[in-house]
Amino acid sequence: MKNIIKVENLTKEYKTLKAVDDLSFVVKEGEILGLLGPNGSGKSTTINCLLSLLNFKEGKIEFFDKPMSPDAYDIKRQIGVVFQDVAVFDELTVYENIEYFCGLYIKDAKTRRECVEDAIKLVGLNDFRKFYPKQLSGGLLRRLNIACGIAHKPKIIFLDEPTVAVDPQSRNNILDGIKSLRENGATIVYTTHYMEEVEILCDRVIILDKGKIIASGTTDELKGLATIEEKVTVEGIEVNKKVCEEIKKFKTVDTVSFEDGVLYITYKKGKNNLNDLLDYLRKNDIKYDKIFSERPTLNDVFLELTGKELRD
Ligand SMILES: Nc1ncnc2c1ncn2[C@@H]1O[C@H](COP(=O)(O)OP(=O)(O)O)[C@@H](O)[C@H]1O
Ligand SMILES: [Mg+2]
Repeated sequence: MKNIIKVENLTKEYKTLKAVDDLSFVVKEGEILGLLGPNGSGKSTTINCLLSLLNFKEGKIEFFDKPMSPDAYDIKRQIGVVFQDVAVFDELTVYENIEYFCGLYIKDAKTRRECVEDAIKLVGLNDFRKFYPKQLSGGLLRRLNIACGIAHKPKIIFLDEPTVAVDPQSRNNILDGIKSLRENGATIVYTTHYMEEVEILCDRVIILDKGKIIASGTTDELKGLATIEEKVTVEGIEVNKKVCEEIKKFKTVDTVSFEDGVLYITYKKGKNNLNDLLDYLRKNDIKYDKIFSERPTLNDVFLELTGKELRD
């Protein structure tokens, strides 16, 4: 796959703060690249630098092997952007908004109509085409914002946290829509602080913290970085210190903790870890409500690498 975007040693400072600190990465043709990081980790700043909307201290940015600059209109024509803050016209309807933004790129009326219809279909706003933005729920408004950014069928699409504060139905609609954009051949850069979304959506992920790349790869590769292999949670249980110590002595157990009737156990490695635990609980006649086991998540990886949660 070709590299569509190349970023080398990008650094952006606000006074003394390094909002983006020496980032280098590529975006490959046809992929969805996720930028995952907590609030303030530099996702929006990175995107705005890539788009030449911000000037930056150091670094090199190329699209299609050509340098990006504020007046690189041949590149910009092929880009669609959905900003974090909704930016639509209150006095235009859903249809008129999408048509307006699409019309900045597509002059032929028939082609433009088709594009607007496709965008309406993609985000599922058909029943709302005559509504004004003020009449839309938060989720529908986000969907309109997306339609406005992508209606002209750009080759490269940037979406900056497009699902923040939307209802689950709109979120699913948005994620499905983004998948279809990729199926139709677009290359997509997607920022979020929701690890579940990058797992569903992204071919590759870059994890950012304090403006730096702390890890990158596919979600499976990233989860492979976790030193824990499995987490077991037992709810509705009462155990004393002695029990915790005995469980801690099981071959593959790494940590054991107990709080408010919930027992948490992490395992470094090994298979069938749960069997030993179930045997032990049965033998000692220890009752519980619920027991479940999970693989490490990207949040666990983030926690191990930075000492804090993704959503702090
Ligand atoms: N215009 C600005 N002036 C000063 N600091 C800023 C400005 N924009 C962003 N920052 C700071 O840069 C850092 C990265 O911000 P941002 O790129 O918005 O993060 P994210 O999009 O990941 O939430 C944060 O510490 C933020 O406070
Ligand atoms: Mg942001």
